[in-house]
Amino acid sequence: MIEVEDLRKEFVVRRGRLRRERHVVHAVDGISFHVDRGELLGYLGPNGAGKSTTIKMLTGILVPTAGRISVAGLEPSRKRIELARRIGAMFGQRIQLWWDLPLRDSFDLLRHIYRIPADRHRVNLARFRDVLELDPFLDTPVRQLSLGQRIRGELTAAMLHSPELLFLDEPTIGLDVVAKQRVRDFLVEINREDGVTVMLTTHDLGDIERLCNRLLVIDHGTLIWDGGIPELKERYGGERTLVIDLEEPAPPLEVEGAVVERVDGPRQWLRFRGSASELTARVARAARLVDLQVAEPDIEEIVRRIYASPEKVSDTNGV
Ligand SMILES: Nc1ncnc2c1ncn2[C@@H]1O[C@H](COP(=O)(O)OP(=O)(O)O)[C@@H](O)[C@H]1O
Ligand SMILES: [Mg+2]
Repeated sequence: MIEVEDLRKEFVVRRGRLRRERHVVHAVDGISFHVDRGELLGYLGPNGAGKSTTIKMLTGILVPTAGRISVAGLEPSRKRIELARRIGAMFGQRIQLWWDLPLRDSFDLLRHIYRIPADRHRVNLARFRDVLELDPFLDTPVRQLSLGQRIRGELTAAMLHSPELLFLDEPTIGLDVVAKQRVRDFLVEINREDGVTVMLTTHDLGDIERLCNRLLVIDHGTLIWDGGIPELKERYGGERTLVIDLEEPAPPLEVEGAVVERVDGPRQWLRFRGSASELTARVARAARLVDLQVAEPDIEEIVRRIYASPEKVSDTNGV
């Protein structure tokens, strides 16, 4: 469905007094990956990593500086119109619906723009009205909708023409828990039941954990991880943390097999591999313990570790 080879995008920005100083931003700096039909792929990275720029190139909105892209067999920037019939796209922070029109009218306009056959339009709309519970606000102008309602409308708009591939840029940003869950359920449904390939950018790890079977992580314009979430946890989750409370504040403990990560008064965090009970015994010989607990890394912690050591990942993972 998607093939990307050594993709790059540079922006030239001017700054300084009189904006004379030219500065090149390498927003996407040589990334390669491919995506099979039916995948639900997460594209994760901190702010400014290059996620939106990638999606804009994949959907034909931006022309790459270098590299090769094929989406559904088409080169996006050259075949933007043709591609638009095959893909759906939603940008969480940008409004694509008509601001002053009720949702119902927007959906009708889209039928004409995409030349969607009337019966397919009817069937699709009926389904999305049901799944996304649109009826209570179908006749409300978009400008009066809550963010969660608007996103549900935008999702419908992106899917009305039955695209085989859906791009979403931060689909859950700013949503409350309930609205987030609704969006996630919807994405899982169209992926599982309709076989729609979905690629979504996010910096919400909950999205990734609940939705995706594969994860790309981008940082500073380069890919630092491409693989499954279990593999990610296996490689980076091997280390655990022993949190100990001492009788009184102390300098970082020096114990074999552990590294003190953090000290806060009498509490210390020790990163270690292997047996927690052996380490606990060594700690108990070195200091007076009041309490302790073992913390498993969650995906958030794991990703923090990847960001902290990108070179290690790219070496071992062959990205
Ligand atoms: N139109 C633009 N002009 C100049 N710089 C840009 C432009 N769009 C994005 N950038 C820069 O490119 C980098 C990547 O941005 P973006 O793709 O939006 O990141 P993300 O979506 O991961 O937060 C950032 O440093 C951003 O400031
Ligand atoms: Mg972005």
